[in-house]
Amino acid sequence: MLIRPAKTISGKLVLPGDKSISHRAAMLAAMAVGESRIENFASSADCSSTLECLQKLGAVVRRNGSGVTITGGVFTQPAEPLDCGNSGTTIRLMAGVLAGRQIEATLIGDESLSSRPMKRVIEPLAAMGAGISSTDGKAPLHITGGMPLTGMTHRLNIASAQIKSAILLAGLGARGLTTVIEPVATRDHTERMLRWFGAEIDTSRPGEISIKGGQKLSARSFTVPGDISSAAFFLVAAACLDGSALKIANVGLNPTRSGILDVLERFGVELTISDESSECGEPVGDITVRGVAGNFSGEVSNLLSGGVIANIIDEIPILAILGTTLSGGIEIRDAAELRVKESDRIAAIIDGLRRMGAETEEFPDGFRVARSRLRGAVVESYGDHRIAMALAVAGLIADGETEIRGAECVDVSFPGFFETLNSVVIS
Ligand code: S3P
Repeated sequence: MLIRPAKTISGKLVLPGDKSISHRAAMLAAMAVGESRIENFASSADCSSTLECLQKLGAVVRRNGSGVTITGGVFTQPAEPLDCGNSGTTIRLMAGVLAGRQIEATLIGDESLSSRPMKRVIEPLAAMGAGISSTDGKAPLHITGGMPLTGMTHRLNIASAQIKSAILLAGLGARGLTTVIEPVATRDHTERMLRWFGAEIDTSRPGEISIKGGQKLSARSFTVPGDISSAAFFLVAAACLDGSALKIANVGLNPTRSGILDVLERFGVELTISDESSECGEPVGDITVRGVAGNFSGEVSNLLSGGVIANIIDEIPILAILGTTLSGGIEIRDAAELRVKESDRIAAIIDGLRRMGAETEEFPDGFRVARSRLRGAVVESYGDHRIAMALAVAGLIADGETEIRGAECVDVSFPGFFETLNSVVIS
């Protein structure tokens, strides 16, 4: 993909449905008895992997435009392995969905997914009594059904919504109470959606989530908000190009996901939130951003670390690009989890920025990017959708032309990303 420098980003966008929320809506609809309708379901390849897995397990799935109708309530023995593609959320949450059922299943994934750590879900699920095995803690995951699960308390040492969600979904079918204690708050879409589908879940103690086993979900309709993690690429592009004015309508504003907005405001980016409302238990609203490149505040600390990292974990590649325009640059720490995402995101984004002439430093748990004038270069996506999209934004603000190799991986979260970007770029 060739990217040429842009003058401004202007217009109005509505983005596809949130990927994290769509996965959960599909899984809970498949667990609920009856027919659920999901509107604005994510167009991402990852969410299609989830739908295909659920179909192989007996759910009736009908897609029509951006809507999906799922008739659930019965899980049957799958005839073949369940292919989770590139999707960590699919494999880890499905492990939780399947752990206590009377079926055997094998969860497989592509090369990237097969190299990612799975012990983090295998161990807590096995502790509840699940028959689950792997080779060396990596996919394929083999689930041998028929074991009744027992609720227990899990104190997590990794901040991960995927681990928390896998345990809570298993807890729904376990005997007794299942509790997850998180080291820091992670996205709470599973908790909100369990409530929406009729389950009782206790979140009254900060940092602790409890669910009683044996609860049945009821089919519900759900409308998925626009994906704030996709919005982040457009917000940063507009913020960096002086004179830009971009409105993104109907974006999910869940406070466990919206850390990117706080970070942008802290660096002096002008954002306005309007038309706020609640949709199926998730806050939504419109975001307007104005480009004020070069006017960002240099007074604030440029270090992002600690508790905030979980909230912005998927936005760190694009924040690295923003860092090249900040007078103090940007420094990210406590983010070693980035090394086990779809790619090693610390190495991948630093490689791209270095090729584009940025001054950078890499740490085991993060990186530092100094304010740098970027120049077009040939860069690599490393097969990672968020790296490809971040480098596309880098190409817009660079001098000269940028070529992104392997850019088709954007389909993992945002098919049509480049067309949407073109629709708001003024060159
Ligand atoms: C996700 C949780 C995060 C995030 C991923 C989606 C989810 O992963 O990076 O893109 O939907 O629960 P971790 O749970 O590994 O932090």
